[in-house]
Amino acid sequence: MITALVPGSFDPPTNGHIDVITRCAGLFARVVVGVANNPSKAPLLPAAERVALIEECCAGLPNVECASFDGLLVDLAQRVEADVIVKGLRAVTDFEYELQLAQMNSHLSGMVTMFVATKPELGYLSSSLVKEVASFGGAVDELVPAPVARALKERFAHE
Ligand code: PNS
Repeated sequence: MITALVPGSFDPPTNGHIDVITRCAGLFARVVVGVANNPSKAPLLPAAERVALIEECCAGLPNVECASFDGLLVDLAQRVEADVIVKGLRAVTDFEYELQLAQMNSHLSGMVTMFVATKPELGYLSSSLVKEVASFGGAVDELVPAPVARALKERFAHE
């Protein structure tokens, strides 16, 4: 039984993230989504809300679980008994940084990282752009799952 760890900031989760998680759920026996707490990055949504949103979006995937984490990803991987880290790649511009992280994680613990190519139609999506569009009142309904769109509307309604 292979457990895949899909880590990220998920601030907020986008259709691209959910697509990668869904495809992992079809490939691996167990998928753990690791939500980096990252308080130093001043996230828009608190980690607990990001976890709750991913859980809601993945409610139909019984082999997916979600947890927030502080500290090193490889320590979370050990705690949840992950066999492999999986990250989505949108474009070659992602690759350099992701390769560096994968090699550092390999150095730290021997953990293997695998990459899933994002669907081409989702390749332009990023959490940062979604936040920017939502912050100016633009429509994000086609970019993020419905619960996330609702959370963003609520968040920016108060600004
Ligand atoms: O969605 P992101 O921002 O690309 O996710 C990056 C993340 C959270 C997976 C990465 O920054 C991470 O693993 N952070 C935890 C600290 C860590 O282990 N860093 C890598 C070794 S230096």
